[in-house]
Amino acid sequence: AHQWRGVIREYADRLPVDENTQVVTLGEGGTPLVFAPALSQLTGCQVYLKVEGMNPTGSFKDRGMTMAMTAAVAAGAKAVVCASTGNTSASAAAYATQAGLKCAVLVPEGKISMGKMSQAIAHGADIIQIDGNFDNCLDVARKLSESYPVFLVNSVNPARIEGQKTGAFEVVDFLGDAPDYHVLPVGNAGNITAYWKGYKEYAAPYTNQAGQVLDAVSSKTPIMWGFQAAGAAPIVLGHPVTEPDTIATAIRIGNPASWEQAEAARDESGGLIDSVTDEEILAAHRWLSAREGVFVEPGSAAGVAGLIKHQAAGNVPTGKKIVITVTGHGLKDPNWALQNPDGSTVEPTKVGFDVVEVATALGLS
Ligand code: F0G
Repeated sequence: AHQWRGVIREYADRLPVDENTQVVTLGEGGTPLVFAPALSQLTGCQVYLKVEGMNPTGSFKDRGMTMAMTAAVAAGAKAVVCASTGNTSASAAAYATQAGLKCAVLVPEGKISMGKMSQAIAHGADIIQIDGNFDNCLDVARKLSESYPVFLVNSVNPARIEGQKTGAFEVVDFLGDAPDYHVLPVGNAGNITAYWKGYKEYAAPYTNQAGQVLDAVSSKTPIMWGFQAAGAAPIVLGHPVTEPDTIATAIRIGNPASWEQAEAARDESGGLIDSVTDEEILAAHRWLSAREGVFVEPGSAAGVAGLIKHQAAGNVPTGKKIVITVTGHGLKDPNWALQNPDGSTVEPTKVGFDVVEVATALGLS
């Protein structure tokens, strides 16, 4: 059987690498595109979920990190740095370990989930908690990389965008063409930038590194719909948010680095960038777990929350093919599943060691 070789080797033709490149990979990409029956029924569309939690460190960041870490090695770097709301730091820590590089991660104190923090610790990163938000962390990380011998692996590094554009390639390769809509969460706005780049490349003839012209793979590009959390929605508001706030810590960002590129993806595709409330995010998180069988972290559900919101507003035509990227695994931040919608703690039933009692508790008798 074919063994997936990671996004660099699978898509070498379309990435800035050659046969001499020393590839750093944990086998990322090749994630499932899962049909979502309940969302499809709700919308009268064919809705698919690109389940990025299935990547090696549990988020889409791995697609970009294989490229960024490969670039770091090619540049002769000894250490890498990133700012992160958690997933980038988990990914950087893992890929730096394989590459034999030191890894420093700057995270907003108290605002990253325990699962993500545990990954960075397990992989031996130097973790600095900063008394500030993600935007402050990114500012420091950029300055560090300008003045000290550390290589920046945030998505402001173009290698990250190159790697992440493979998500769009996989969608088209699986469906046979681009979908009508692509929906995803927006935080620092690297991923919407990357998907749009990937879709555009696949819809046009492409000249690869070797100078060969590859045919267009898809007949069209999708309409891009991005969703920010309402308390951290600078692109929707049209100005930076100095104190971003949302339970979806992954996308708690007030001044996205790829702001202009996200607007370009929106405008060139005839799409939109809108916001969803924390309540809408948690409802979508529950919908995915309880109705589609897909467990994601809250921030990852922002795209689904956006689709549900716009369906209710009558903005989703029926009969369309819709792909939603769900960006990170539910085990990253599992506590939300242990809460009822009213905030009370879920308490599984306890009974004695007796088959009749268990059957009764299950309502079987
Ligand atoms: N979903 C998850 C689970 C994320 O971790 C992020 C970003 C996003 C969505 C938004 O993607 O930034 O490309 O618009 N997480 C970054 C991090 C900021 O540090 O892990 P984006």
